[in-house]
Amino acid sequence: MFNKTLIKVFGQKETPFYYYDLALLDKTLRAAVLAAAPFSFHVHYAMKANFNERVLHHIQQAGVGADCVSGNEVLAALKAGFSSDKIVFAGVGKADKEIIAALEQDIFSFNVESVQELEIINGLAAGLGKTARIALRINPNVDAHTHHYITTGLDENKFGIKVWELNECLEVIIRSPSLRLSGIHFHIGSQITDLNVFKSLCVKVNELNNWFSERGHHLDVLNVGGGLGVNYHNPDGDQIPDFEGYFAIFNQFLDRKPGQEVHFELGRALVAQSASLISRVLYVKNGLKKNFLVLDAGMTELMRPALYQAYHKIERADQDAIVPTDAQVSYDIVGPICESTDCFGKEVALPITKRGDLIAIRTTGAYGEVMASHYNLRDEIRYVYSEEL
Ligand code: LLP
Repeated sequence: MFNKTLIKVFGQKETPFYYYDLALLDKTLRAAVLAAAPFSFHVHYAMKANFNERVLHHIQQAGVGADCVSGNEVLAALKAGFSSDKIVFAGVGKADKEIIAALEQDIFSFNVESVQELEIINGLAAGLGKTARIALRINPNVDAHTHHYITTGLDENKFGIKVWELNECLEVIIRSPSLRLSGIHFHIGSQITDLNVFKSLCVKVNELNNWFSERGHHLDVLNVGGGLGVNYHNPDGDQIPDFEGYFAIFNQFLDRKPGQEVHFELGRALVAQSASLISRVLYVKNGLKKNFLVLDAGMTELMRPALYQAYHKIERADQDAIVPTDAQVSYDIVGPICESTDCFGKEVALPITKRGDLIAIRTTGAYGEVMASHYNLRDEIRYVYSEEL
């Protein structure tokens, strides 16, 4: 995992901090872009996964577009150099000022999530003398087989337009001169590791693509969202997700009509493995039933375990210095925040660990730093970037 030079640098830094391996990020981006190229698939990066400026810069350089979920994300994408014709704006609750900002920037498309939103965008676009390109985000009722908190494509979820509302959507679009229907959009969930799920999505997309063409609407874009998962259990052995297998499924099972583009919105798969949260052990508490390592990082720096019971591999960051024969002890690894859910892992086997030792929480490049909070008036997040060392 970390080499000796890096371990030395870590030892000199104030903790906790996110360590970004930007070379690995570039390698991951190259792999994704290369895997999409043979099929002329368009990749957009779901900025919500990580909008750290340095990270964004590397992603923009890779030539992908940006999928944004707030007006501020749209502006941050433009600032990072993404061109407006490669920016899409999704979100179940777009505020008027966010829609106006995006219209003024002539973004590629709005992914619209309700009938009412169509009316609102039409009105705001008319007021600005613009035409808004829109894609309908349809909820296909496909189970992503992932944690229920990050499942989005079921009827019971708040996201997207239900299939039985599509007639009404078309009626609104036909009588709205400032809307232009350019495509359909789907996103069924995140951290999807069973690729068969994407086959089921393709079947639904094909049905709906036909539904529109039977009604005389040619769609320019099929946007199938994101969701490709990463291997949280083996960050070193499985650094780069299987982009080839993923895109091959869509190439095989999606029926594109002539001229139709296929768009993807990958977040986690592009960034997750490129960061680790590095923290120091503040206290070791040996109990009768349990041993605790109390870290200086908490749920305020990495929310995923507290929010989704998410697994992250936890290691000693100075792994190299550890003799393989050292005895292993079972620890609950907890943070300093006054909440019982502030726990990164239970019964984690580590070599005997003492105050001051460094711990790495792996695969934290996606939905890590961006979900941090100031709860307990914690410090601003700190970073170390590989390219500065
Ligand atoms: N497109 C849309 C419309 C989305 O809502 C999302 C993620 C993505 C694309 C990107 O999905 P990805 O490729 O990253 O799976 N905070 C949670 C994940 C929330 C995902 C929200 N939407 C977590 O830490 O697991």
